[in-house]
Amino acid sequence: MSKISEKIRYVGVNDNKKVIFEGLWPLPYGVSYNSYVIVDEKIALVDTVEADFAEEFLSNIKSEIGDRPVDYLIVNHMEPDHSSLIAFIRKHYPQICIVTSQKAVAMIQGYYGVSDNIMTVKDGDTLTLGDTVLSFHLTPMVHWPETMMTYLQQEHTLFSGDAFGTFGAVKGHITDSSAALYGSAENSGDSFRDFNDEMLRYYSNIVGKYGIPVQNALKKLSGFTIDRICSTHGPVWEHQIGETVSLYDRMSRYEGERGVCIVYASMYGNTEKAAKALEAELVKKGIRYAIHNLSTENVSFAYRDAFRYDTLAIGSPTYNTEIFPPVNSFITGLAGRGLKNRRFFAFGSYTWAGTSVKLLNEFAQKQGFELISEGVSFAQGYSEDKFSIPENL
Ligand code: FEO
Repeated sequence: MSKISEKIRYVGVNDNKKVIFEGLWPLPYGVSYNSYVIVDEKIALVDTVEADFAEEFLSNIKSEIGDRPVDYLIVNHMEPDHSSLIAFIRKHYPQICIVTSQKAVAMIQGYYGVSDNIMTVKDGDTLTLGDTVLSFHLTPMVHWPETMMTYLQQEHTLFSGDAFGTFGAVKGHITDSSAALYGSAENSGDSFRDFNDEMLRYYSNIVGKYGIPVQNALKKLSGFTIDRICSTHGPVWEHQIGETVSLYDRMSRYEGERGVCIVYASMYGNTEKAAKALEAELVKKGIRYAIHNLSTENVSFAYRDAFRYDTLAIGSPTYNTEIFPPVNSFITGLAGRGLKNRRFFAFGSYTWAGTSVKLLNEFAQKQGFELISEGVSFAQGYSEDKFSIPENL
């Protein structure tokens, strides 16, 4: 699984133990922390992995380079899923020079107490390893302010950090010629399709707030020939680069595909009955959709499909004259992610004061969504005659 080319070797790990990523996001298929060694007269290691995997990580490195020293540690991104073994690697390779952006320096000191033998690079700076030349490209806020990407010129290979990454551990070879999603029964032979849901969930949950920086990074990369993308999570893209870049482009422009994402929560089942009636109508019309009940499932899946589809239907009962808390938390997350370009419809039940639909519409107007109806707020129990579904779903 390790050989990507003569010079590039995969030394990352699969994490099938962690249940919740960043303390927030479930990992039903695990996640990979990708790291690479570039072997030439000098050896460079690109990023590290999560702290729990120190011994496996070191063993992966040694199996590629034996007892040769690692000359450079390139730190593209400082989030601890990639940086937490910096001090460990420095201990094993005391001469190693850390190569990173200026903004990462204080973070390396602050997280790991490491401040010596650090080479900072500016946009476009290069580093020669022998025949191999690396160039460095600052891509702030994809996903943190210090982030940069590293480009191996001779192989047209981009080490992209979190960009183009996905949740899901990798089964089989790390490259997309055979990479399959861990936990899937079959290897379909189409890595992009297999990882698509988890890539959308990764993008919308982790990177979704940073649409403009992602667009800026894509513009910066547009002049590069890219034959391989080595991200920090998920498959190495060689055959499906177009699909992967296009997905990140569409997501960062907040462009949804035709379809409806229904998201609701319900106290006594009346708002849920409305959500199910809406679902039945979509089935009847043959419109693609997803439906998520925030009373019972993690919000990350709802974020995924709110980014996926061009129409958002949100149902909430009125609770203490407000939007029901799980729905309120969801729309706060959408606002934080700057979601836009959506068609919108709100619905929900109340007992004595119906405010949830009005408040949901106010949220939608702030986001610049197009309201496809004034919404439906109904008193007490659900019945068909109280719930008029918009014609133009
Ligand atoms: Fe995979 Fe932003 O770290």
